[in-house]
Parts: sequence; C-alpha cells; structure tokens
Amino acid sequence: TNNKTWSGRFNEPVSELVKQYTGSIGFDQRLARWDIQGSLVHAQMLHEAGVLSAQDLADIQRGMAEIQAEIDSGSLQWSLDLEDVHMNIERRLTDKIGDAGKRLHTGRSRNDQVATDIRLWLRDEIAVIRTLIQDVQAALLDLAEANAATVMPGFTHLQVAQPVSFGHHLLAYVEMLGRDSERMADCRRRTNRMPLGAAALAGTTFPIRRERTAELLGFEQICQNSLDAVSDRDFAVEFTAAASLIMVHLSRLSEELILWMSPRFGFIDIADRFCTGSSIMPQKKNPDVPELVRGKSGRVIGHLTGLIMLMKSQPLAYNKDNQEDKEPLFDTVDTLIDTLRIYADMMRGITVKPEAMRAAVLQGFATATDLADYLVKKGLPFRDSHEAVAQAVRHAEQAGCGLEDLPLDVLQGFSALIDNDVYQVLTPEGSLNARNHLGGTAPEQVKFQVARWRGLLEKQ
Ligand code: ARG
Repeated sequence: TNNKTWSGRFNEPVSELVKQYTGSIGFDQRLARWDIQGSLVHAQMLHEAGVLSAQDLADIQRGMAEIQAEIDSGSLQWSLDLEDVHMNIERRLTDKIGDAGKRLHTGRSRNDQVATDIRLWLRDEIAVIRTLIQDVQAALLDLAEANAATVMPGFTHLQVAQPVSFGHHLLAYVEMLGRDSERMADCRRRTNRMPLGAAALAGTTFPIRRERTAELLGFEQICQNSLDAVSDRDFAVEFTAAASLIMVHLSRLSEELILWMSPRFGFIDIADRFCTGSSIMPQKKNPDVPELVRGKSGRVIGHLTGLIMLMKSQPLAYNKDNQEDKEPLFDTVDTLIDTLRIYADMMRGITVKPEAMRAAVLQGFATATDLADYLVKKGLPFRDSHEAVAQAVRHAEQAGCGLEDLPLDVLQGFSALIDNDVYQVLTPEGSLNARNHLGGTAPEQVKFQVARWRGLLEKQ
C-alpha cells in the first residue's frame, strides 16, 4: 500500500526514482521545530474558533511534545515515503494520537504551511546573523582602536596613494557591515509576515482567525493575499542578496588580508590556527581561511542567482518549483554563519607590523598630495603645484630617495614657496593628522568613530 496522504485518487504508487526526485525530507527536516510551532498555534486557533475540540487540542499538544523530544534525541525515523517534513510529522502524530492528528490539517495546506515554516525559521536565523555581524564589528573596532595612529599606505589602483591610518582602513569595513546589518533587519521585517490561512491558494471555508495565529506566532504582519502568500519567495531572494553583499564585503577584506600577509607586503600576520602548511614546501604558511571566504562568496552569490531564476517563470500560485528554495537558502545561512563566526575569531588573531606599513608609505611618495596642498596654502594654484610636486617626485625617484630626504635648497628648486616647515607635511604622521575632519583618517577621528560605533552596537 502507498504511504502517501493523498494516495486515494491514484491507481499506482510513484516509482522509486520519482519518490527520490520529488522528496524533500533529506533537507527540509531542519524545519521540524518551526513546523511543530506552526502546527501547535494553528491547532490552538482552530480550537478557539470552535473547529477543534479541547480534547483534540490537548492530544495534539501532547503528541507534538513527544515528537519534538524524539527529534531532539535523534530517535525519530524520517521516511522518504512520506515525502517531506510536514507529512512525516503529521503521520507520526496520527500514529500517536489517532483521529485528532488527522484533524490538524483542517483549514490548512502544505502550501501555506511550508511558506510559514521557512519564514519562522529564517526570521530566527536573521537574528543570529545580526548578532554575529556585530561580533565581527566589535573585533574590527578593537583592532582599529589599537591602530588609530598606525600609518599604512592607502591604495588606489593598488598603487600607493596616500597615507592612511590602519584603524581608519578597518573602520571602512565596520561601516559596510553596519549597512549589512541594517539590510538584514529590513529583510526580517518583510520575512516576518504570516502566510498561514492562505491554505492551498484561495483561503479556506473554515472560520479561521488569522490575527490570532499571527499574534501567537509573533508575526508582525499577515500576508494580505492568499495567492501571493503561498507563491512568492521574494523574502528569500532579498535575504540571499543581503547575504551576498556580506560575503562580498568579507571577500574584499579577505583579499586584503591575503595580500597583507604575503611577504611582499608583510603588513600583518594571521594566527597559525587560521593557516595551513604545504605538504611539499616546508616554509609555507598559507592564509586558507581568508582564501576560502573569498571562494565561498561565489557560492552564496550563486544561490542568489539560483533563487531568483527559480521564481522568474512561475505562474501563480504555488508550484513544486518552490521546493527548490530550501537548499540554496539553507546553504546560504550555513555558509554565512560559519564565515561570520570564523571571521570574528580571525580578526582577533591578527598581528600588525607597523614598521613594514610605514616603510611602504615612505617608498611610495605617499605624501606628494600633502606637498601639493602645502603649496596651494602658500598661494600657488593647485594645477601649478601639482606640476611642481610631480617634478620633485621625478627627481626623488631618480635620486632613489623619498621627498622628505631632499634637502631644502633642492626642494626650493621646484618652488620658491617651500620653507623649512615643509618637513612636517612630508611625514606620514603629519599627513594623517592634517585630515582631521568627520570621516577623515586622522587618529583623533578614528578614535571618535570607534567610540561612536561602540555606542551604536551597545544600543542594538
Ligand atoms: N515539500 C513541499 C515544499 O517544500 C511542501 C509543499 C508541497 N505542496 C504541494 N502541494 N506539493 O515546497
């Protein structure tokens, strides 16, 4: 005999291959807790609406508590014959409590049930993700504070551009992650809406009380159209897009960590526990963790593409295509959570090498813009001063020294406006300190931003 709850109208059971092809129990088990939560509230609402007896409700509550315990202990046997998590749990309930278990599905469909489960699950995961983002931010803030006055070359086109504070550089990522956290919070608002009550697609003839169900499940809003409720997965696409951006931000930071750790830069060291050696080259210490973060960002972006493709041609309302929402969504959450966890820890294991950073600044004529600004302040038009400094850089390059190594009379050869006070301007520290405005790289501003962010994180 066929195990399916819908087998009455069929003459033959599905083939083994079809069973495997259409079944989702292999991956949707993880929704079990939220499936039970939704069922318990649905049952309670049905009882309050006079559809389900007090005895049935009590039996359902007892049966579900047992099932949850079986799931927690790992003793529940999931069956592919029962297709998905919803039918597995319902069958187990019916085995335990009889007819009351069969009445649970009154006024409900798996279509609104699964849409509700995913939203309940995802809203919880978003809360976890936001906490983890904040932890990465906290780790970056500690490192930024300790390096408020550490000079490093800032790059454009990966060519030395101007000196920046290493702390300021790290704070750029704190800003990105701050917007990521906002995006997640915003996405959670649209995720936290209740499809339950939409039934298969058209609603139900039973006197359901959706406001009550939503209140008990903690949904902020109720999906206002039954067709929309069961069929759209835009919240999942939105979530995966927000997750992709987080991964992209961390991928960019990873790329920098990898460069900075390369002996050609030698700006930082990453703690051994995040690196691996080579099986052939004894000297190697490879930054595997940041490399994998960079690689896994592609995986998450792939899930975004997959999910949005999944939606593009589906007619209303529910189609089985939607079952394909789960694996990309689950893998996105898993990858993101693992990445954020490991990242916070990794940032706390970074050793900074300020001498190497400073040496790189001095090699790159990074204070040339400061010299140009200096001449402008003495009255030279910017374009003329740009030209004078370019000549000075060319001269220093040929002489194999930095601008700050050129004697005063040589510098004066490029502009008579240059005076002894020029040497303060030519130091990396002077360059940093001179950019003392909101959003600038001066150590004072870095400390201000660290304090501002700590205050913001405390409030969240
Ligand atoms: N396992 C299905 C899913 O993940 C549940 C909903 C199935 N509904 C249906 N009518 N086949 O989407």
